[in-house]
Amino acid sequence: MWGMGGWTESDDLQSARSLDLAVENGVNFFDTAWGYGEGHSEKLLGELVRRHPNTRIYTASKIPPKNFKWPANPTYKFEDSYPIGHIKEYTDKTLRNLGLEQIDLMQLHTWDDVWTDHEEWQRAIEDLKTEGKILAMGLSLNRWEPENGIKALQTGHLDAVQVIYNIFDQAPVDKLFPVCEELDIAVIARVPFDEGTLTGNLTKETTFPEGDWRNTYFVPENLISSVERADRLRSLVPEGMTMAEMALRFITMNKSVGTMIPGMRKERNVRANTAISDGKGISMELLKELQKHRWDRKPTTWSQ
Ligand SMILES: NC(=O)c1ccc[n+]([C@@H]2O[C@H](COP(=O)([O-])OP(=O)(O)OC[C@H]3O[C@@H](n4cnc5c(N)ncnc54)[C@H](OP(=O)(O)O)[C@@H]3O)[C@@H](O)[C@H]2O)c1
Repeated sequence: MWGMGGWTESDDLQSARSLDLAVENGVNFFDTAWGYGEGHSEKLLGELVRRHPNTRIYTASKIPPKNFKWPANPTYKFEDSYPIGHIKEYTDKTLRNLGLEQIDLMQLHTWDDVWTDHEEWQRAIEDLKTEGKILAMGLSLNRWEPENGIKALQTGHLDAVQVIYNIFDQAPVDKLFPVCEELDIAVIARVPFDEGTLTGNLTKETTFPEGDWRNTYFVPENLISSVERADRLRSLVPEGMTMAEMALRFITMNKSVGTMIPGMRKERNVRANTAISDGKGISMELLKELQKHRWDRKPTTWSQ
């Protein structure tokens, strides 16, 4: 629900229609964050829950770091990131925005394993569970650093991890997923379309409206190489399938993944994306071919 919180061309009415359609089509897990429009996207989720009182909708949100700096960086002090008072204050803010007494999954929006040994964050989690404000707690990992969080997961205080996993970003299979299997930690695969590249709809000439964050992410260096790599996938897309569908089906083939959270604001995209949940996946031959398109990248000035 990031896009619904403040990307350009977001429209609350359109978002609400798409959310309702998603619920009608069986989606029961929604991911938001205080940072998506300073609580705006959380309010949309709360309204969705109230519009569907007879459906069990699982709510997930995230606590921003105290210094509001993304992504996490090992030079940031723990006290400036997730001190106990901050974790509790933002959980209360989220619950107020949602209009709920309990959230199913709360997550720390950024993480660096240099903070693992500060027991304050662990105590905050246990307190919030005892108070009944959260059912489970997770971490959201930095882009292209899927192993920077494993140490925290091994403390036993976390229930879920949110990580970028898609046809390009396959590195979580090396170490993170085996650890999650071993410790029974839920995996949420985020950014399944690589922010749009894996829909096959971007070109080297694509521009985004002024103020859209994608202008700062798809800088020429990134846009050009991403489009070239997406173009190399075109011949692999099976007949009758779109590249976006192939991208989501690729993720369903990994049994370590509990759920995936494609960003979708438009009803057209909700219809297309929920249709892949038919248990059919893709052929093993195609899976093997797609595995060859793994693209390991290193965090850089524009990667965020
Ligand atoms: N933890 C974190 O730090 C973090 C960071 C990034 C994202 N997330 C979460 O992960 C979610 C997904 O990431 P994302 O939204 O950044 O990227 P994404 O899912 O990789 O891509 C979203 C883009 O794909 C488009 N799209 C969706 N379905 C499509 C389809 N079937 N065909 C063509 N285009 C399609 C969307 O369009 P429309 O929006 O116009 O429908 C949107 O422009 C976010 O919404 C957020 O909840 C978390």
